Amino acid sequence: RPVLAVASECAPLVKTGGLADVVGALPQALAAQGWAIRTLIPGFPRVMAALKKPKVAMALPDLLGVPARVLAAQVAGLDLLILDAPALYEREGSPYLDAAGHDWSDNDLRFAALGKAAALIAAGGIPGWRPELLHLHDWQAGFTPVYQKLLGATQPSLMTIHNIAFHGLTGAHRLTALKLPDEAFTLDVAEFYGHLSALKAGLTGATAINTVSPTYAQELCTPEFGMGLEGLIRARAADMSGILNGIDTQTWDPTADPLIAPFATPIAKAANTRALRAEFGLAPAEGPLAVVVSRLSDQKGLDLLLTALPALVGNGGQLAMLGSGDRRLENAWLAAAAAHPGKVAVRVGYDEALSHRIYAGADAVLVPSRFEPCGLTQMYGLRYGAVPVVARTGGLADTVIHANAAALAAGCATGIVHDPHSAEALAQALRQLCALWADRAVFRKIQKNAMKHPVGWQASAPLYAALYARLAALPQEPA
Ligand code: ADP
Ligand code: GLC
Repeated sequence: RPVLAVASECAPLVKTGGLADVVGALPQALAAQGWAIRTLIPGFPRVMAALKKPKVAMALPDLLGVPARVLAAQVAGLDLLILDAPALYEREGSPYLDAAGHDWSDNDLRFAALGKAAALIAAGGIPGWRPELLHLHDWQAGFTPVYQKLLGATQPSLMTIHNIAFHGLTGAHRLTALKLPDEAFTLDVAEFYGHLSALKAGLTGATAINTVSPTYAQELCTPEFGMGLEGLIRARAADMSGILNGIDTQTWDPTADPLIAPFATPIAKAANTRALRAEFGLAPAEGPLAVVVSRLSDQKGLDLLLTALPALVGNGGQLAMLGSGDRRLENAWLAAAAAHPGKVAVRVGYDEALSHRIYAGADAVLVPSRFEPCGLTQMYGLRYGAVPVVARTGGLADTVIHANAAALAAGCATGIVHDPHSAEALAQALRQLCALWADRAVFRKIQKNAMKHPVGWQASAPLYAALYARLAALPQEPA
């Protein structure tokens, strides 16, 4: 049954975070459930470069004022529709930022065009292919339901919130440029404290809403996490659910990953751990090697880790970090590495292959986030026997079994869970990590539990399939 997914990122073609992994993995996970997903993404340079023999599926000589077309191609097992609009997307670097690190000033138009193209496809723009349902991911797809309504495309839609922190705001004066009706700038549609919000347009217009973990679904109803949209989320409680992300267990398979020395048991990780210490210039040590692979942003709580660092390095532990983002955090971490030579090492940058070597070599993955809709790095950690040390929030709380006395006695602990927002709670967790590591039998047992924990899509794919089926069965309102 045909579904149109709409997103700004899709692994392995274009990725800045977990959104890409999930958008890239869902089609395969849902194919087994009878849903055939075609994914519409912008034609960024690296996407265009990956296309072999694309076909023109739809010509759009004037898409919100720019010439465009929709191409169809199969890449890496994905059935892709690519919005080829050079005026909007033919720019090197980040999908969202210019070379100076600022949002492109026309991001509203760039992603409104994505939503308009999706609505045109829903309305029958591709002869012989009509999706039963639209699956919209984050604010970049948010205006789709508004354009659907204008075009009379009545299919139901599901809006998935991967991160409510990003709203896709613009000014009301842009309604004309985006060819949106004046009604879009009302409280019931997309007006948000005097701005026009793409995310809100999606949340009010979609038939149903979900987010990427059950705990984040609950958190989103509160002012602390809802970022001003908690009232709207609460009002739509009947249409709201939380479905935990999975990871692609073929790409992330420690027994067969071509980017590492493959291993099937915690003890057999050793070659990777030695290689990782060597690659990061860390001294051989009798203590846990902890790692971080992360965007450096306030969300991730890595400033708290700076404060708590003595609890790790003072108890025999080491830290290897790969991350990029906020310049101040990058500099602070480079300074921390300089202050702890041989014990703390930091790579600033984005490197997919290195991330595999890091998870493979690590004893522990640290994720001290202030909020975390789902989080994938703790799941890569579980799969690769790198014990997650995580803040109790969002999907982190839903994926890790804390090593308290009961879990240790029952033999089911997979990691360490601490209070969020507190450097002292994190320090305490790092002390526990060092103590658990020193008891080799206990630590190996936790690693084994972690490696066995189900982190694929086996539980969540049927939940998405059931939600798709429920939405597709709804009577379609005439536009
Ligand atoms: P978020 O989407 O909020 O950044 P997730 O944990 O869901 O957080 O996903 C992050 C994804 O990006 C993971 O696949 C992680 O391995 C990857 N990642 C983050 N930073 C880097 C980096 N500097 N180099 C390589 N991969 C990274
Ligand atoms: C967002 C969230 C992250 C989640 C990812 C995929 O980037 O920050 O927690 O895992 O989306 O859903």
